[in-house]
Amino acid sequence: MFRRQDPTVPGLLPGDVPRHVAIIMDGNGRWARQRMLPRVAGHRRGANAVRATVQACGELGIEHLTLFAFSSENWRRPADEVSALMELFATAIEQEVSRLHEHGVRFMVVGDRSRFEPGLQKLIEDAEATTRANARMTLTIAANYGGRWDITQAVNRALAARAAAGRTDSDGPLGEGEIAQYLALAHAPEPDLFIRTGGETRISNFLLWQLAYTELWFTETLWPDFGASDVQAAVDAFRSRERRFGRTSDQVRRAAGNPVAAVADVMDGEGGISGLPRIAGAR
Ligand code: FPP
Repeated sequence: MFRRQDPTVPGLLPGDVPRHVAIIMDGNGRWARQRMLPRVAGHRRGANAVRATVQACGELGIEHLTLFAFSSENWRRPADEVSALMELFATAIEQEVSRLHEHGVRFMVVGDRSRFEPGLQKLIEDAEATTRANARMTLTIAANYGGRWDITQAVNRALAARAAAGRTDSDGPLGEGEIAQYLALAHAPEPDLFIRTGGETRISNFLLWQLAYTELWFTETLWPDFGASDVQAAVDAFRSRERRFGRTSDQVRRAAGNPVAAVADVMDGEGGISGLPRIAGAR
């Protein structure tokens, strides 16, 4: 089912396939309304699109896929829609985790899960434990997640770690790396490609820290209609972009002819930027 990437230089990808794709799945409600169906029908079809997208990303050799399933703000939706979404999430875990496990996919959830029902929390913990050792691909679901929540909790954890180690303010201000290690997605490189479906062109409090250098791609396609050909279109668009990470276009082109020099360039010129996960050649 899945192809594995085998980069010869750490951080550089053969075929310019993004290592990490992050998606805001939007448009379930409009998909349902267009068909005179209840909104929950759109979410149900949305769950099918999740399955198709995981498979398509696996086949392309994408190592990390992060999906925004429920934002910190989504609690404001009508109570019956919120409970339908929670139910759908629980059912999807129950039905899909063994298949993910068979295909070597690690399943993770990021966000404040303390507000979920204990039963859902247990399902998540079990699914994470079952798939913990899988290394082919990591599927991360952001649920009750918000980018501001993420940065705030990371700063608080970094401060708590300092205090526990007996360090004080006189050790200087927190550094980027000290905060980044506590972010919810510390297990993954920063996303290379961000996709939002449904026609809106906003980040909507998704991975605020992690999207600093990410290529953004927006489509009118409503999430339930999203599938393998859309993943391919987004990856094709990504390939045509030039990622400079603060360098000049000339530097990027020179580095593209010599990937090892590209890494050396970055270590010389930008090694102090702790947020940079890695640098690839021209893309
Ligand atoms: C946004 O569409 C979608 C959501 C808030 C929920 C996403 C949930 C799923 C795709 C269901 C299954 C998820 C998993 C992880 C199994 P919207 O309701 O905001 O659509 P609208 O903008 O057209 O109203």
